[in-house]
Amino acid sequence: MSNTDFYIRRLHSICGVAPIGVFLLEHIFSFSTVLAGPEVFDATVAHLASIPLPVLLTLETVFIFIPLLFHGIYGAYIALQAKNNIAQYGYSRNWQFYLQRMSAWYTFAFLIWHVGYLRIYIKAMGNGEIGYALLHTYLSNPVVFVLYAIGVLAAIYHFTNGLFTFCITWGIAVGPRAQSMVNKAAWALCILLSVVGLVALSAYVA
Ligand code: HEM
Repeated sequence: MSNTDFYIRRLHSICGVAPIGVFLLEHIFSFSTVLAGPEVFDATVAHLASIPLPVLLTLETVFIFIPLLFHGIYGAYIALQAKNNIAQYGYSRNWQFYLQRMSAWYTFAFLIWHVGYLRIYIKAMGNGEIGYALLHTYLSNPVVFVLYAIGVLAAIYHFTNGLFTFCITWGIAVGPRAQSMVNKAAWALCILLSVVGLVALSAYVA
């Protein structure tokens, strides 16, 4: 690996945690406000909409679109190069590695659909108003609901397992004991966020 590859890979790694991972956490929190009632979710949306458009677009571009585009495209390049060796070794870490790749691909396709429809077609192009009513109708389609549920799970798994590999990549978890502890913590976070995400998603169709 050349020096440039090394730094690009490190940048790819850090982008996954911040700003993208931090945004994912914020996003799960925002869409979960529906659990307090449709009007609370609509108030969250109104609050975000109150940010002046040039400020919102700058923040979205610098902290979400550019890092996500870079992480997604370079991630696809890495994923195409990596060898999935679950057939050779049945160990759980290899499964985690395989799922990390699979969840990356699903998240990639899901985000194009999710952002393309809700952020660009509906919001930017003015084809509707984002809010509980629209999401209720949208997610009441069982196919959309299932694809969204898988999207939420894939993004959460990819992120939380990514936190575990991040700790290895950056030398935060050195040695089998530390790695096993971080792995367990990442799984716990994965389960917690998945439950919150799925319960919140269901609240849109309740
Ligand atoms: C919700 C959006 C995403 C988040 C929060 C996210 C987060 C992360 C994190 C935290 C890591 C771990 C970095 C490390 O091991 O040092 C990671 C790794 C990775 N991500 Fe993402 N990611 C997202 C979307 C994507 C997409 C769309 C792709 C493209 C297919 C992708 C491909 C990858 C790959 C291949 C790795 C492993 C890199 C390696 O082996 O060094 N990610 N991601």
